[in-house]
Amino acid sequence: MSIRDMKDSGEKIVMLAAYDYTTARMVDESGVDAVLVGDSLANVMLGHKNTLSVEMDEMIHHTRAVSRGVKRALVVGDMPFMSYQASTEDAIKNAGRFLKEGRAEAVKVEGGHKMIRKIEDIIESGVPVMGHLGLTPQWVHQFGGYKVRGKTESTARAILENARRLEHAGCFSLVLEAMPWQLAKLITEKLTIPTIGIGAGPYCDGQVLVIHDMLGLTGPHVPKFVKRYADLDKVVMKALEEFKKEVKGNKYPTMAHSYEMPPEEMRKLIRSFQHKR
Ligand code: KIV
Repeated sequence: MSIRDMKDSGEKIVMLAAYDYTTARMVDESGVDAVLVGDSLANVMLGHKNTLSVEMDEMIHHTRAVSRGVKRALVVGDMPFMSYQASTEDAIKNAGRFLKEGRAEAVKVEGGHKMIRKIEDIIESGVPVMGHLGLTPQWVHQFGGYKVRGKTESTARAILENARRLEHAGCFSLVLEAMPWQLAKLITEKLTIPTIGIGAGPYCDGQVLVIHDMLGLTGPHVPKFVKRYADLDKVVMKALEEFKKEVKGNKYPTMAHSYEMPPEEMRKLIRSFQHKR
């Protein structure tokens, strides 16, 4: 069933942001509906302090890896900062790269009415677009930080109007990030395209999380909207400490982890060395 049909049938859409082949393979096998190769790659995988620094080539590299791991789910590539803002030509070319080189099936574009022309042109060029409203991290400096958006009547109305415009422009779905649940509910009710929430409450048509967040791989700070379904940080640290201890204490590897040469071959090797001396 397509993401759009899922809204009509009332089946919730499940999306995860993932960035590599191994993880994408597991995510796909779990039955998740869509995999977003998010520009959060910048912070989560590349260690940048925000999403602004990630390059198109890095996004394509990771999108290709994810696509190799996914057999079933929809793969969405996230247009990074300044890959679409400067010109329509950039927007079309870079969106196309996600499909041609990254083997994604759609792209996600952050922003409202100021990005509408670019979004329309991308869609017209044959690339499906997922919109993204609310706390759009590429606008962090304009917003003055990572704060919940749309808490007042006027800011909420602006987001609702942008949502309508994005639907009208032809977006096939919309990510709603960090906004009051009431606003996300209203947008979800007013639109015919599905909404996928992150920090936008339970009434969206679907939910997305960064896989490292929900698996507990992103350190002790947990944003309010994240639910941790595992504590892999602890599991990984325990394994690393045990490995270190065993190597230092000559406990690993044992013979069970070692390859053996037939004894006769070994004797020949030693003899040939003795001859040479
Ligand atoms: O980059 C990202 O991971 C995202 C989602 C969390 C929506 O944009």
